[in-house]
Amino acid sequence: MQFFIDTANLKDIGEAQQLGVLDGVTTNPTLMAREGISGEDAVRNHYKAICNLVTDNVSAEVISTDYEEMVREGTLLANIDPKIVVKLPLTADGIKATRYFSTNGIRTNCTLVFTAGQALLAAKAGATYVSPFIGRLEDISTDGLNLIADIRKIFDNYQLPTKILAASVRNAMHIVNCAKLGADVATSPLSAIVGLLKHPLTDAGLAQFLEDHRKAAAKSVEQQ
Ligand code: G3P
Repeated sequence: MQFFIDTANLKDIGEAQQLGVLDGVTTNPTLMAREGISGEDAVRNHYKAICNLVTDNVSAEVISTDYEEMVREGTLLANIDPKIVVKLPLTADGIKATRYFSTNGIRTNCTLVFTAGQALLAAKAGATYVSPFIGRLEDISTDGLNLIADIRKIFDNYQLPTKILAASVRNAMHIVNCAKLGADVATSPLSAIVGLLKHPLTDAGLAQFLEDHRKAAAKSVEQQ
């Protein structure tokens, strides 16, 4: 499974990249706003900076809501760097724009997916990625992981090449469960990726190893 980081924060992206496990970045208008990025030039420069940090797969979301504008804005975003994947909302115009970009060889990520039917539609339109939102479904007491399983089954039934990009992934267990269910990608904040490192027995075991080594080293110095 690929690991994407869900942020527009350059420091977090750099940190995940340094870990050596990062396959891409997803952003959305909220995440861009959180970094204080707005206006065509600032957006362009920020995406350039992100693309310079990673090897591929930078999802850049359009703000436009009608088809013609989505095509115009998405084309501008795609022209920033070949690493850019145009992120489009799962609306009728978004699906039409997905078809436009897939026909023209530009990768897309259909976002705000909350049902298997929406995911199927995005795949039919040729989306490269489809982004089901796990955490937001859980926020309304709905099983987000079930959605991943349903989409996996449907895509496998018909060998649909669209990749399942599990989004709104908020903790390490979400990442593990997405992997168990066969999601192709999980995008999450740095805290969830780093959360995979953590277990108290790892910390205790390492402390014990180091202590035993220290004692053995001290003993051999004594014997000299
Ligand atoms: O980028 C879309 C998605 O990952 C948002 O996550 O935590 O705001 O629901 P969240």
